[in-house]
Amino acid sequence: MKKKLIAGNWKMNGCLSANEALIHALRSGLPATVACQVTLCVPSVYLAQVQSLLTGSGFELGAQDMSAYEGGAHTGEVSAAMLRDYGVRYCLVGHSERRQHHGETDAMVALKAQRALACGITPIVCVGETLAEREAGATEAVVKRQLAAVIHVNGHCISEIVVAYEPVWAIGTGKTASAAQAQGVHALLRAQLKAASSQADRVAILYGGSMNAANAAELLAQPDVDGGLIGGASLKAPDFLSIIAAAG
Ligand code: PGA
Repeated sequence: MKKKLIAGNWKMNGCLSANEALIHALRSGLPATVACQVTLCVPSVYLAQVQSLLTGSGFELGAQDMSAYEGGAHTGEVSAAMLRDYGVRYCLVGHSERRQHHGETDAMVALKAQRALACGITPIVCVGETLAEREAGATEAVVKRQLAAVIHVNGHCISEIVVAYEPVWAIGTGKTASAAQAQGVHALLRAQLKAASSQADRVAILYGGSMNAANAAELLAQPDVDGGLIGGASLKAPDFLSIIAAAG
């Protein structure tokens, strides 16, 4: 059985002192053996600091976004190769906050995933429907469209990605998808990946959206839920440690 993947998404939170305190609390609270993989997706300016704080922890370094371009005249952007220079192993692409507030299209997300793979970074491709889309019965069509764009561009490499299903209505709201709702969508995504690749069982499909210490075990017990993408609860060491324990 593949190891579960627990990814913390710090979003635009943290400062030098708070990062140090959080990672210290996580490291001192970890049991001797951790059965899952853990990554922290931190703001780019803190990559060097967090890389150094994580040395020897077994945690992988992650980023929250990257450029779709290789390099050059793209003021303000950070390339996949630059992230790789700092030991980044995972990078979120297409988080709903970037799709909603920064105009990211399915095509841009697919290109970012491609650039990440080209630099040896595993893209965590985020998909998910808004509340209006769910209420209109469009959940399946939306998540399949978002994933199809990534499959279209990345073809045979598709088994190298991670997918995160994050219903937009569950992000930061305290409303979690039920375990059955999450499993239902994960099964659809798995079937779509299987149609594209014989290696689809290797792809980790994470659930994200108000996952916390209380609901993690039930969500992570679903057959197609291979881990979690955790925002708010990843900023509180005891909560994040409980989620890591639930994934064991
Ligand atoms: P949340 O965020 O856990 O705070 O809902 C998840 C995410 O946006 O990745």
